[in-house]
Amino acid sequence: MCGIVGYYGPKDPKDVIVGGLKRLEYRGYDSAGVAILDGPKNDQHFKVVRAEGKLGELAKKLETVSFTGHLGIGHTRWATHGVPSERNAHPHTVDGVSLVHNGIIENYQDIKADLAREGAVFSSDTDSELVAHLLARKVKETGDLFKAVELVLPMLTGAYSILAVWEKQPDVMVAFKNGPPLIVGVGEKEMVIASDVQAIISHTNKVVYLEDFEIVFVKGNDVKFFSAAGAPIKKEVVTITWTADQVEKAGYKHFMLKEIHEQPRAVAAACAPHVNLETKRVKLSDVGLSDEQLRGIERVFIIACGTSYYAGLAGKYLIEQLAKIPVECDIASEFRYRDPVIPPRSLILTISQSGETADTLAALRLAKQAGALTLSICNVRASSIDREAHGHLYMNSGPEIGVASTKAFVSTLALLNLLSLYLGQVRGALSVKDEQHALEQLLAAPSQMEAVLAYDKFFAEAAQKLKAYKGILFMGRGINYPIALEGALKLKELAYMHAEGYAAGEMKHGPLALIDERMLIVMVCPSDRNYEKTLSNLEEARARGGRIISIGTGDNHALKAVSDHYLSLPKAEWNVNPILESIPVQLLAYHVANAMGHDVDQPRNLAKSVTVE
Ligand code: G6P
Repeated sequence: MCGIVGYYGPKDPKDVIVGGLKRLEYRGYDSAGVAILDGPKNDQHFKVVRAEGKLGELAKKLETVSFTGHLGIGHTRWATHGVPSERNAHPHTVDGVSLVHNGIIENYQDIKADLAREGAVFSSDTDSELVAHLLARKVKETGDLFKAVELVLPMLTGAYSILAVWEKQPDVMVAFKNGPPLIVGVGEKEMVIASDVQAIISHTNKVVYLEDFEIVFVKGNDVKFFSAAGAPIKKEVVTITWTADQVEKAGYKHFMLKEIHEQPRAVAAACAPHVNLETKRVKLSDVGLSDEQLRGIERVFIIACGTSYYAGLAGKYLIEQLAKIPVECDIASEFRYRDPVIPPRSLILTISQSGETADTLAALRLAKQAGALTLSICNVRASSIDREAHGHLYMNSGPEIGVASTKAFVSTLALLNLLSLYLGQVRGALSVKDEQHALEQLLAAPSQMEAVLAYDKFFAEAAQKLKAYKGILFMGRGINYPIALEGALKLKELAYMHAEGYAAGEMKHGPLALIDERMLIVMVCPSDRNYEKTLSNLEEARARGGRIISIGTGDNHALKAVSDHYLSLPKAEWNVNPILESIPVQLLAYHVANAMGHDVDQPRNLAKSVTVE
């Protein structure tokens, strides 16, 4: 994880780097630092400022510090090797070579032993510092940072992206990667290298995505790309459509709250490219897989992590019911290590907001090696997973910055609806009438979601009481079960409260024992084919003294009668209900965490983009 920014250009590098780090802070936030050239023109050295804690701590330290140079690098850290502390914060600087690193150097023990034998003295506990030592030795030999990188790269194993600078070459940045993302922003007279476009878009919308084992060499206003073996390569400059104002809070207290409120638009944007308004049917645009390929699928594996996994679980219900294809849904870190049997004619569907999650990417590669057809659902275009999958669907949610995923989740639910309907269409598993009805329901979701957002006020007021419960049990059946799981995950990650998501029918097999008057039960109970059974489960929970919030359809008197609070959702079909139900469970977690005084956008110990195993 970790965020990297490097800058060369006429602006104040401090402003560009700190501004960029602010937008990358979602990637890690236990310490941060910068190294920027300073001193008289012909004798510049890196002035390094680092601080433990969030970026704000570094920003405070930097208030009174200025730099004369035009080259600098910065880093916001999510600790892997070495505790979060100033001494372990990046950049790491050895003999005028300074670097920032995202990832893990797996052979660091061997490298460290070799360096120690040669008399190296270490000033941190990180694996990253070792690479600075290696580069410092090689620039001494070669007198050139690029050549030094070429020599050091083959010495490293692991997953890493590294950006290095050397004070003797004050207009040069060299970066390379194997794993975590690196992007080069090619500006008018400036160059920005960063982990993510969000750190770049205020300066340029022209970017180049680095592939594994490629090296980028920036010298002044010139940028060149090379393979690890030093052969020049031509790279495509991509124009990105995200804009700088999309990464601002727009008056909301947190990005997460803003992103929750953006969800109706996100669902509409996910659907827009795939709807034929004349025939009122689904047409998957630019997905990159032919109808013949889709018709031939006999099994689907959905693979993802975290919130994306729960969206995938809802996808299982959608694909099985609408397209009649058997679906397995797997957590990526389990899938990749369980020797999965992938029969011929399988589709591997990976879901990832960032498109960079290490386990999901590894699972995708494994599936490709096994010869499977792959399709990705990503938010970040041209991310690693998007680039490597055969077919592509895009969430179109715009930048998601809150660490806890929200709008990407509902966009994915919308895309899974569309995919299921299209698979049903091309395979003849669904009548035109049923497809049109389900699609019509889906297209009505954004305006229905607007109405559900009104529960913002309810949860803001209820949060003080809700936070006093010893735990919250979220339950649902069928396609609503993944929403129960997602509700529990949100509460855990934001409020650090004990929460469980359970299939309501499974309650009697254990969780019933947890229930007493200090346990809150959130029952997701819309009027669908499981309604009666879920209602019975609700009665059982209530009989054990549990306090109940129920989420149902319309003005439901039966639910009201057995609940402490009843939250009414607009009437929708089963395939759309999860999109509506997501909003109250997100708002609940948001407001409880906020009432507890937690940093909602940056929950402790977490990062948005998990690019290490
Ligand atoms: C992290 C984030 C989650 C996210 C998960 C998967 O754990 O905190 O919000 O759902 O990664 O991320 P992805 O980018 O693959 O969807």
